[in-house]
Amino acid sequence: MIILILPVSNGVFSHTTKNLFMKIFINQVFKSVNKWALATLTMLLFAGSFNANAQGEGLFKAKCATCHQPHKNGTGPKLFQVRKKWSDGGAKEGSIYQWVNNWQAAAASDPYAQTVSTWAASAMQAFPELKKEEIDAILDYVDSTPDPAAAGAAGGGAADGSGDAMGESNMSEETEEGSFSWVWILLGVIFAVIIGAVSGVRRQLKAALNETNDADEQSYLQEFKTWAWNNKIYVGITSLVLVFSLIVSLVLSLGDIGVVEDYQPSQPIEFPHDIHAGVNGIDCKYCHNSVTKSKSAGLPSVNVCMNCHKQVNGRTPAQQEKIKAVYEAAGWSTEGAGSYTSHTKPIKWNKVHVLPDHVYFNHSQHVVVGGVDCKQCHGDMTKQKETARVVPVGELNKIEGNIPLTRPTLTMGWCIECHGEKAIQEGPLDGKKDGYYDEIHRRLLNNDKSLYNKYLDDGKVTVKELGGWECAKCHY
Ligand code: HEC
Ligand code: HEC
Ligand code: HEC
Ligand code: HEC
Ligand code: HEC
Ligand code: HEC
Repeated sequence: MIILILPVSNGVFSHTTKNLFMKIFINQVFKSVNKWALATLTMLLFAGSFNANAQGEGLFKAKCATCHQPHKNGTGPKLFQVRKKWSDGGAKEGSIYQWVNNWQAAAASDPYAQTVSTWAASAMQAFPELKKEEIDAILDYVDSTPDPAAAGAAGGGAADGSGDAMGESNMSEETEEGSFSWVWILLGVIFAVIIGAVSGVRRQLKAALNETNDADEQSYLQEFKTWAWNNKIYVGITSLVLVFSLIVSLVLSLGDIGVVEDYQPSQPIEFPHDIHAGVNGIDCKYCHNSVTKSKSAGLPSVNVCMNCHKQVNGRTPAQQEKIKAVYEAAGWSTEGAGSYTSHTKPIKWNKVHVLPDHVYFNHSQHVVVGGVDCKQCHGDMTKQKETARVVPVGELNKIEGNIPLTRPTLTMGWCIECHGEKAIQEGPLDGKKDGYYDEIHRRLLNNDKSLYNKYLDDGKVTVKELGGWECAKCHY
């Protein structure tokens, strides 16, 4: 309101209008604006940083946002009003909280949760550390986010097909990011408008009082200084609140940058990499067979396991017990010569390495074109006794042949640090190596010799020098 009135009053009461009535009126407006502006600003700032949503938002971004968005299906389904959905769908009381703590337990005890667990082929992580109030805070935050598609975008249908299973459709391609920063931009604009308007009114007031037309006598900056000096207390409080909110939001946003090092979710079957890829020397590609061909490495289907496990059923009882889980999944009965029963139970491996949806990462580009070994990023899986985990960068650095990096594994810093370090070819074009990089070298050489020499001044061409630091290479 005030903001709307101000520019108007600004224009109406130009410096030619100098009667007393106007003076008083402007004076009044100015006074009330002074108070209201600060009060509003302070309130807005408090609302921005300290409302109950802040905790929920922080937790959501730190723990859930890699897979969930409020209004759009992704790796996990959209979460808008999911509590209502569960109670409408006949879920047991409180089972949604149990789901977040440990979805397997919830699926085992609540038939509704069981149906939810079939939504995607991958599964959710468990968050045993989250208290009920924290989960409520997360879901309150989700419910409070506006739907970017609410303005009538016709639902695009379920892009991934799985949305149908939930009886709901994907609404919008827009992401939820940025909701945080535009609040700040908005606040900044409001602040600027208020300052501008206030000093404008003030200048006119002054001009009117002095009965002169000399409105430009004092610059805006000087005006602002005088104004700020006269309102020390308000200005002081506002700046304090501003600085404090900035620090708080900075800390919160730092927490958002999901450091997932050492993450090791539980798995439905205790699959040991060391026995398979180590002791038995099975090639990674035997199981992750798309790693050299496509973006994702892929996980093996149970049929791949059965190629061996029809025969290999374990020597010790403990092994047999573990391998029995493979048989259950494949629907294999060990009776007699063994046969398929057709009672299959697909294995749902929990995702270990998860990048946010806005990041593009391609395995074949790194493994084949870039010649980067699996152990550079995943550690030595031939020695991994337990199920897979995200290996912290400190451990990766100890592995022979790895380029030492400093930033936590899977963060953006980690990716670009390697792109800045990793030579895709040592030394100048020698004509002996074939193919891909020679072609790039030749192009560089033809285009700009000095650039080519600059690239090689450290004796190598890095991924960065070929564009590996360009945002669009990694971000959709
Ligand atoms: C690694 C990915 C991942 C993360 C992280 C994750 N989820 Fe999920 N979530 C899923 C998937 C996938 C499903 C669908 C169920 C399935 O297919 O197993 C799901 C389902 C749900 C459901 C049921 C949705 C429905 O439509 O009924 C809720 C509620 C939920 N998640 C809450 C959370 C919360 C809260 C967090 C953060 C604390 C979180 N999830 C973090 C992947 C994830
Ligand atoms: C016999 C099949 C098999 C072989 C061989 C194998 N893996 Fe795996 N791999 C799996 C299965 C099953 C999983 C899922 C279970 C898990 O996460 O521990 C997996 C998971 C992984 C993961 C984590 C996936 C995620 O969700 O982020 C990585 C990384 C990985 N393997 C790398 C390797 C590397 C590197 C090699 C070769 C040294 C290798 N694997 C050999 C079967 C295999
Ligand atoms: C440059 C680093 C890097 C190298 C090298 C690398 N990976 Fe990965 N790997 C990743 C990242 C990052 C992800 C997570 C991808 C995502 O979430 O989109 C991942 C995910 C995986 C997964 C989980 C399934 C999937 O496709 O998302 C498997 C399995 C895997 N890698 C196996 C391998 C194997 C086997 C090799 C070697 C042949 C290898 N990786 C080489 C970085 C790497
Ligand atoms: C190329 C053959 C081969 C494939 C493929 C294979 N395994 Fe195995 N697996 C073995 C051998 C060999 C052993 C060791 C058995 C022994 O020591 O007698 C084993 C052992 C195991 C064990 C027992 C581990 C322990 O702790 O002792 C489990 C569980 C297992 N495999 C699961 C799987 C799963 C799940 C898959 C599919 C993703 C799979 N295997 C694929 C050959 C294979
Ligand atoms: C250990 C080193 C290393 C790490 C870590 C690494 N990369 Fe790379 N990356 C490379 C190399 C080497 C190439 C060059 C391949 C080529 O020439 O196309 C490359 C190329 C790329 C390209 C293509 C760039 C272009 O110019 O076309 C993209 C995109 C990319 N990486 C994304 C990622 C992302 C995302 C991550 C982090 C999740 C990551 N990389 C982590 C080594 C790495
Ligand atoms: C080599 C690949 C790569 C390049 C180049 C890259 N990014 Fe990223 N970026 C990532 C990865 C991976 C993540 C996810 C990190 C995580 O989840 O911790 C990310 C996350 C982000 C995020 C979200 C941070 C958050 O809190 O989740 C922003 C914003 C971002 N990048 C902006 C940029 C901008 C701007 C550029 C260009 C100057 C850029 N990125 C270039 C790989 C890259």
